[in-house]
Amino acid sequence: MGSVFFELMAEMDFTKHSGGLSATNELIELCHIDTSKYILDVGCGVGITPCYIARKFGCRVVGIDFLVSMIDRSRERARRQGVEELIDFRVADVQDLPFDDEEFDIVIGESIMAFVQDKQKSVDESVRVIKKGGYFGITETAWLEDPSPKNLATLSQTFGGIFNPLTADGWEQLLLQAGLRDIVTSTHDVTVMNEAFNRLRRLGFIDFTKALYKTLSLIITKPLFRDALRATMSEPKELLDSWEYGIFVGRK
Ligand SMILES: C[S@@+](CC[C@H](N)C(=O)[O-])C[C@H]1O[C@@H](n2cnc3c(N)ncnc32)[C@H](O)[C@@H]1O
Repeated sequence: MGSVFFELMAEMDFTKHSGGLSATNELIELCHIDTSKYILDVGCGVGITPCYIARKFGCRVVGIDFLVSMIDRSRERARRQGVEELIDFRVADVQDLPFDDEEFDIVIGESIMAFVQDKQKSVDESVRVIKKGGYFGITETAWLEDPSPKNLATLSQTFGGIFNPLTADGWEQLLLQAGLRDIVTSTHDVTVMNEAFNRLRRLGFIDFTKALYKTLSLIITKPLFRDALRATMSEPKELLDSWEYGIFVGRK
């Protein structure tokens, strides 16, 4: 189920996280990304953030995702945007990264940790590849309080049980357990209007229009896609009041 959901997103050439471009910009600031830094983005999806960072700072970026289709889309995006020289995209699992200890200055992840099997292992593994003094930062959806059985059931029905966020305290604990210090947490409301606006801003008008066109063509030509999309992509509106999103950053 997990990979079906993500395969659909790769076909649409569209991946997302709560807070969209605002969240990415705050993550960039709190992780002190600049031209001199070597960055790893874990669970990079279709490569929107690695391309954005490479364009904005001209720094070297590596993006990993466990799906080949996501990495294919990411490489196409980097070529289209003329930043393929700066970015290396690789298929890899965040729980077992193919990098040496202390290879990167900064590791970021946007809406990946809520989907992984072993969150602590994923954070520990990300921290392993960061240089001493470097930053680790994630942006994730967070429950405002521990979820009710009803909310968990709605989530499971919508995402097939693969989406499993924590509270802000829970996310902070993961970072502390991984030995990070100087933890900074910044939380924000999730609203339908903000989400729509920030997703459009993040993708840019042209890529947004292309993604919309691809989605509509798939809906018309592939009934299976239509059914799967209906099941997995409908945002569970009744849950929005139970969520916020947070940026969680720590230093190694
Ligand atoms: C919600 S999407 C977010 C993608 C991207 N960060 C963005 O904000 O557009 C989550 C991504 O994490 C990837 N992913 C999930 N589990 C993973 C794992 N164990 N290792 C690497 N990537 C993973 C999925 O394939 C998907 O592309």
